[in-house]
Amino acid sequence: MALLLSTTLQAAGADGTWTHITNGKVWTDTNGKVVQAHSSGYLYKDGLWYMVGEDRTDPWRPDVNLYSSPDLTHWTFLAKIIENGVTVKELGRGRFIERAKLLYCAETGQYVVWCHWEGQGYRASEAAVFVSDHIDGPYTLHKAGRPLDIKSRDCNVFVDDEGTAYFISTIEENQHLGMFKLSKDYTEPLSCQLLFAHQQREAPAIVHVDGIYYMLSSACTGWDPNQCKMSHSTSLTEGWSPLENVGDSICFDTQATAILTIRGTKQTTYLYVGDRWMDPGLPESKTIIFPVTFKDGQCELIYKEEFDINFTTGEWR
Ligand code: GAL
Repeated sequence: MALLLSTTLQAAGADGTWTHITNGKVWTDTNGKVVQAHSSGYLYKDGLWYMVGEDRTDPWRPDVNLYSSPDLTHWTFLAKIIENGVTVKELGRGRFIERAKLLYCAETGQYVVWCHWEGQGYRASEAAVFVSDHIDGPYTLHKAGRPLDIKSRDCNVFVDDEGTAYFISTIEENQHLGMFKLSKDYTEPLSCQLLFAHQQREAPAIVHVDGIYYMLSSACTGWDPNQCKMSHSTSLTEGWSPLENVGDSICFDTQATAILTIRGTKQTTYLYVGDRWMDPGLPESKTIIFPVTFKDGQCELIYKEEFDINFTTGEWR
């Protein structure tokens, strides 16, 4: 009987199926259209991965698109959640958006998008916050400006285990990183902790593994790839270890944008997500995904052109 039960469970997919991920190719959505979601940000909710990112079809006037997928490969286009000239009239004229990131605030039931809100020559150095009651919009601008009057550029978000959200950005003319603790509704910065003083890091991505926070970041070399570095700490706001090189000298021709946690029945796998910019042009930039491990303050980027992942068990091969 026990044997019969386990066989039945297997047939029903208790061990899941393998998803093949191939890097370096243009992604198409479930309608066969090219996926445009650069500098992507991810929200995992109710069994689906939601991805927001820059639509660089018009390279210098990016909109923000939203997609969903059960397996990071079959992407359904849901909406253009921020559109130039429509969502806010300055967008696409004096202003443009980079690095949009999506949060769900359980306290308010609202979806919150944080992003870099720029102007000519990256001189504005501002951030913007959009909110919506529904994941696919409509999103309205809550606020744009320098968070706590601090010049802010490349950015990401991080939600701690108990639900506190942070906006982390490259501050003061790309000199340092700023860790901004957000209000309970995720829309306002409350405080800023300066990190990595004068170390000129950008594209930060954070993950929490076994009580240790790990941060990956790049140097500031525009669209050109550079050495990814890792730091770790048991606190988000202090005690970060000295930056250490990870991966090859150009991070396998990528710049980090996210670290995803795949919690399976057999193991937890972490996936590095990065942008392979200008491949060959900005609109054709690729999103690259590969396994990464974090253990006892160490990190290894395991670059694969192709690999399989099982989203049920968490295994990869
Ligand atoms: C990169 C940054 C991108 C974009 C680009 C512009 O360093 O990560 O988000 O700002 O520079 O050159």
